[in-house]
Amino acid sequence: MRRDVSIHGQWSSKLVFVLAATGSAVGLGNIWRFPYIVGEHGGGAFVLVYLGCILLIGLPIMMAEILLGRRGRQSPINTMSTLAREEGLSRSWGLLGWLGVVAGFIILSYYSVIAGWALSYVFRAGAGSFIGQDAGGAQAMFEGLVSDPERLLAWHTIFMVMTMLVVARGVRSGLEQAVRILMPALLLLLVLMVGYAMAEGHFMEGFRFMFQPDFGRLTGNSVLVAMGQAFFTLSLGMGAIMIYGSYLNSRASIAKTSATVVGADTAVAILAGLAIFPIVFASGLEPGQGPGLIFITLPIAFGQMPGGLLFGTVFFVLLIVAAWTSSISIMEPAVAYLVENRGLHRIGAAAVVAGVAWLLGIGTVLSFNHWSGYTLFDMTFFDVADYLTSNILLPLGGFLIAIFAGWRMTERSVMEELGIRQPLLFRTWYYLVRFVAPIGILLVFLRAIGLI
Ligand code: PHE
Repeated sequence: MRRDVSIHGQWSSKLVFVLAATGSAVGLGNIWRFPYIVGEHGGGAFVLVYLGCILLIGLPIMMAEILLGRRGRQSPINTMSTLAREEGLSRSWGLLGWLGVVAGFIILSYYSVIAGWALSYVFRAGAGSFIGQDAGGAQAMFEGLVSDPERLLAWHTIFMVMTMLVVARGVRSGLEQAVRILMPALLLLLVLMVGYAMAEGHFMEGFRFMFQPDFGRLTGNSVLVAMGQAFFTLSLGMGAIMIYGSYLNSRASIAKTSATVVGADTAVAILAGLAIFPIVFASGLEPGQGPGLIFITLPIAFGQMPGGLLFGTVFFVLLIVAAWTSSISIMEPAVAYLVENRGLHRIGAAAVVAGVAWLLGIGTVLSFNHWSGYTLFDMTFFDVADYLTSNILLPLGGFLIAIFAGWRMTERSVMEELGIRQPLLFRTWYYLVRFVAPIGILLVFLRAIGLI
């Protein structure tokens, strides 16, 4: 059955959906996470696997997720159980929605802490702290921040409140407007940074690092991490894109909008890499140094370039905006559920979700200082939260979405909702969702645990 609108509202146009979904996709995942994991996993070969996952697994699953959301028009939990009922399937498909909500809480908890780093860097940039910094100075500045739990907690709190305020008001007012102006500005600044890296950094070295594949450095775990990054960066597998799809009008083309979002997201990640690595090499830094990578390299660049004070400040402001438009989408599925099933007002629902995620975030705050010695499989609390969600829960969610859309729903329902007129295009998508994506995810899982 096709439904016209969600009780939570609808985007004012298809363009707004594209902006909102791009806002969700483009975030810390592209500018902070992508460069540092490429650095940790040795560059070129990893990037290639990542791009393959984006195209063969990410894009078809994004279309599936939007189509489920638009057909169900509710929070992912209720969407999944409603669609399952309509298709005569087990109601336990609702658990897929729950899986997403759990993943969402964990992601939001650490996402807010990292976005807090960016908040703190806006003020450093504005105060001129980057001027004349060399690698050692920038490293010390970053260490100074993460070793101070009170400061981390304060910024984490501020970012979580920012996210809560937007979600409480409903996504439509204010945010739509902000995304319209700020996303293009972010792109422009990234291009400027790449320009700087070309002129001042070791551009060719950075370029080769990203695009010259050396498959010898690729382990089973790297392949899993590359796939996890594809899910994380496209906001897939936990219901964020599903709920955004539930606010999309029934006529918009799911294929075209998905392709636009995926293209924009990939472009931003590649640009971020091309901006960062030349500076890494020019400053004699280690590409594999982990989550601090952009917070150490970019200040060096901004501290040296003319106008760096202004550009540096603007850059971190935009990074916050990018993170903000993502974090609201991480919070939305749980909030919509509380409104639908627990009779809460959006304001109360947003406060509950933000409160729980905030508490969980304290684990990440402490994992960089007091708790840095407590590890599980050699991973800190933050590492576990990040690994568990990106590399396990999101691909698992994506796998189940592909199975549901590809194998459990009738072809008629899927075709009706997707509305693709060219048969070849529909067949290609259907083939990817039924075979390539789920088998791909399974193989990567098996490879990572060493079974193949
Ligand atoms: N895609 C976002 C980013 O790259 C993160 C995100 C993950 C958002 C999962 C929603 C859901 O920063």
